[in-house]
Amino acid sequence: MKPLLTPSILAANFANLEEDIKAAEKGGADYFHLDIMDGHFVPNISFGPWVAKQMKAITDVPLDAHLMVTKPREVIPKFIDAGVELIYPHMEASYDVYRTVQMITDHGARAGITLNPATPVSTVEGVIDLIDSVLLMSVCPGFGGQSFIPTTMKKITDLRSLLDELKPEVRIAVDGGITLDNVGNLRKAGADFFIAGSAVFKAPDIEQRVKDLKKAME
Ligand code: DX5
Ligand code: ZN
Repeated sequence: MKPLLTPSILAANFANLEEDIKAAEKGGADYFHLDIMDGHFVPNISFGPWVAKQMKAITDVPLDAHLMVTKPREVIPKFIDAGVELIYPHMEASYDVYRTVQMITDHGARAGITLNPATPVSTVEGVIDLIDSVLLMSVCPGFGGQSFIPTTMKKITDLRSLLDELKPEVRIAVDGGITLDNVGNLRKAGADFFIAGSAVFKAPDIEQRVKDLKKAME
């Protein structure tokens, strides 16, 4: 499968979001990533489904939502109603994560599952029948602009072999500290979706940076 670039709008300029989105779109963004933080599951607060709804009005690029929230089931239907196509709850957020993931597919969206850096890849087996991607956090969630945790590389290769046994069509997303310098090695290790905030939106030329990242990913 061809690799996909997913800019995270967390690093965009919220006083001029449309301009940043249009620049990333022109560069060839494949998805936009919405980082949803409740100030409880992670020590930061971001934004809600209304931003997804407003984005749907100005772009045809599909949206995913990464739910860094303690009670994902309270917000899942709202994000799906707002037009989000792919939802990533956290494995660590609920003891009954299967129920959470099932809610996403029952509402007609695609489901992924997110693993924090210290959560073993073997845990995906419990929801494997419902998901089409696994998001590996390569930083501790909560903030943009952090450094990539190097042990993620081995996690990608381990997860790829596990998925090849269990369900080969499941894709691997990697999120946090992605740069022009590491994207090529991440692709070689087996990542398919590249979620990048600062690398895209803090660049002097957003459109060009999206093009450069896509090139480096191939
Ligand atoms: C962190 C978020 C990431 C973040 C990535 O909690 O899940 O999506 O926005 O930002 P960068 O690319 O700046 O590390
Ligand atoms: Zn994220």
